[in-house]
Amino acid sequence: MKKIGVLVSGGGTNLQALIDSEKRGELIGGKLSCVISSKEGAYALERAAQNGIKGITLPRKDYSDTASYTRAITDTLIAEGIDIVVYAGFMTILDEQIVRQFPYKMLNVHPALIPSFCGKGFYGLHVHEEVLKRGVKVTGATVHFVTEVCDGGPIVLQKAVDVRNDDTPETLQRRVMEECEWKLLPQAVSLLCQDRITVKDNVAYAN
Ligand code: GAR
Repeated sequence: MKKIGVLVSGGGTNLQALIDSEKRGELIGGKLSCVISSKEGAYALERAAQNGIKGITLPRKDYSDTASYTRAITDTLIAEGIDIVVYAGFMTILDEQIVRQFPYKMLNVHPALIPSFCGKGFYGLHVHEEVLKRGVKVTGATVHFVTEVCDGGPIVLQKAVDVRNDDTPETLQRRVMEECEWKLLPQAVSLLCQDRITVKDNVAYAN
């Protein structure tokens, strides 16, 4: 059984999707073991506590630079004996130290169809604002491996939804979460826990 560590920064609805999936017995091969928040008082920590999962707060603001913060997160994951790391609404960029420690063992959920609307500055509601501004007719979510390149790691799963004429950033965000993110993330985590994802030439194959 692989020990899963989840990195969060906010409300934690993706964490909740993982918790619900585990309860249904669908997180095959994995166990949610700890939740680390970059923000004090994040509601995701409450969700962890309510479900008997260890919560740890490592505030980003307590660290002067990315390197020292990455070291702290990596050391904590190692101390907790974590095998698989999940970025679930984690809004902080970490450097290559963590990638070296967990090569192809880290997944991120992104609220758009990569390679569109991704990279530095594209996070949370802002992504959906940009989608509406550009007028694309289809958007969705992506689960991908975390590598040194922001939102650039091999894509594991994607799912699309239509953009509607009357969408606001909030309605679109909700639909992308409900129809895409909350389904894809538990599926991808379970596939990784079962060693069912291979990577060749920066392309991931789930089977
Ligand atoms: C989710 O939509 C997630 O995809 C996005 O932030 C939201 C967090 O919600 N993540 C990013 O934008 C990362 N680049 P949650 O805290 O309720 O899971």
